[in-house]
Amino acid sequence: MSQPTRILFVCLGNICRSPLAEGLFLHHASQAGVQHLFEVDSAGTNGLHVGEDPDPRTRRNAAKHGIELNHKGRKFEKADFDNWDYILVMDKQNQHTVRTYTNDDLHLTKIHLLRNWDPISEAQEVPDPWYGGEEGFEQVFQILHRSTENLLRQLLKGHIL
Ligand code: 4NP
Repeated sequence: MSQPTRILFVCLGNICRSPLAEGLFLHHASQAGVQHLFEVDSAGTNGLHVGEDPDPRTRRNAAKHGIELNHKGRKFEKADFDNWDYILVMDKQNQHTVRTYTNDDLHLTKIHLLRNWDPISEAQEVPDPWYGGEEGFEQVFQILHRSTENLLRQLLKGHIL
């Protein structure tokens, strides 16, 4: 059997956007019966929330939509470039930080802005909901729901990134 495709989602704190992206990708894969084809994880660039559960506002909003999140915060590390096939970042700041970990061209080709798979928006970044209100968490949920669903669809069609 072929190796699973390994996808790492990355944001700043690893408690709002990237653990939700991880949970939603898994949800879509499991709905499609293809969970066995993928391994997913998430990490943050700032390391401020290592070992923590996702933010209660993120968890509450996800639970409202029937999505349970199981992740403990961890910091992005250089070895992630070897351990993952795709590194999907939420915004350009994350993209910049992750790039500082390597000079290797192969590693750099693994980094992509997740929102490039948003089927209904030209925006490239998933906004950081941390400082805003509940509506920001719902907006991020909707962006990540449709972007991860489209990403899965493209991967299953064999469209490599
Ligand atoms: P995230 O949101 O990057 O989507 O997890 C944030 C969470 C925490 C912080 C910033 C953004 N923080 O500065 O602690």
